[in-house]
Amino acid sequence: MTAGTRKEKSPYIPASAEIVKVEVLAEREKLFQLRLKNGGPLHHQPGQFVEVSVLGVGEAPISLSSSPTRDSLFELGIRVAGNVTRALHRLNPGDMVGIRGPFGSGFPVAELLGRDLLFVAGGIGLCPLRSMIQYAIDEREQFGRIILLYGCRQPAEQLFREELQQWRDRPDIEISESVDRCPPDQAWEGNVGVITTLFPQVEINPDRTTALVVGPPIMYRFVAAECLAKGIGKDRILLSLERRMKCGMGFCGHCQLGDLYVCLEGPVFSYEKLYQLRGKEV
Ligand SMILES: Cc1cc2nc3c(=O)[nH]c(=O)nc-3n(C[C@H](O)[C@H](O)[C@H](O)COP(=O)(O)OP(=O)(O)OC[C@H]3O[C@@H](n4cnc5c(N)ncnc54)[C@H](O)[C@@H]3O)c2cc1C
Ligand code: FES
Repeated sequence: MTAGTRKEKSPYIPASAEIVKVEVLAEREKLFQLRLKNGGPLHHQPGQFVEVSVLGVGEAPISLSSSPTRDSLFELGIRVAGNVTRALHRLNPGDMVGIRGPFGSGFPVAELLGRDLLFVAGGIGLCPLRSMIQYAIDEREQFGRIILLYGCRQPAEQLFREELQQWRDRPDIEISESVDRCPPDQAWEGNVGVITTLFPQVEINPDRTTALVVGPPIMYRFVAAECLAKGIGKDRILLSLERRMKCGMGFCGHCQLGDLYVCLEGPVFSYEKLYQLRGKEV
């Protein structure tokens, strides 16, 4: 077939999606519920991401925040960072955005079946982890314990407050929460300290447990050390990496780490794999 007769759709052309609902999560974060214009499901896996575009502004990689088990709608939790996310925060229900993807390999769901899941979420890291937490809740009998350690800088920055309360109310989810500090004008009765201060409270069976960790890069080294100290194997500590990404498809090289494309083979990697790649601690 010649270029002139080629009918394949370019992978750079986004699908249209309508914003169904916008919810304010915290000062800098909003949750967007979206529906593809064709009405069909996105067919994503927990831990994958999409490239979201606003016409005339640009595109940004954003993790799927909802589980594919929910319905044909999907959700993105977005923090204001720069041009694209600022433009997204100005949109309302009924407005359209572009969606490419889903991209990346996401969490290895099949390998997690039957395992105890130790989720460790730092700040906005709860957005990508929520897709896997919801999945494990919806397929509850397929997983062992669900343990969530969630830390953010201050109480006002907690995301998904109503959903967190629903999780706290369930007997089959164990949650420990922390804030780095509590300013005098905010209320907090829980733990104060960085997220690693939650680890001594948690008893796990290391042979049964996989840790799923998403948060700011600074958190990874310290959380990985706590997981290792509890006896969790390096191959059972999963971390989601944020790299600068453009194409999301292994073409542009923006996300490269050594000879590996994070957009294709990640963003979720085991600690073991990252250790091999970097030749040193994460
Ligand atoms: C796989 C993946 C998943 C992501 N998931 C989410 C998500 O669920 N929710 C969310 O709010 N954000 C997420 N991000 C981050 C988001 O893509 C960036 O904040 C993005 O740059 C925002 O685009 P922008 O045009 O608004 O800001 P930009 O103009 O691109 O940048 C704003 C600021 O962020 C810095 N920056 C840009 N990209 C990165 C990066 N990858 N790492 C560190 N600093 C960066 C820039 O230097 C600048 O200071 C994800 C990123 C990746 C790679
Ligand atoms: S983002 Fe282009 S190669 Fe990964």
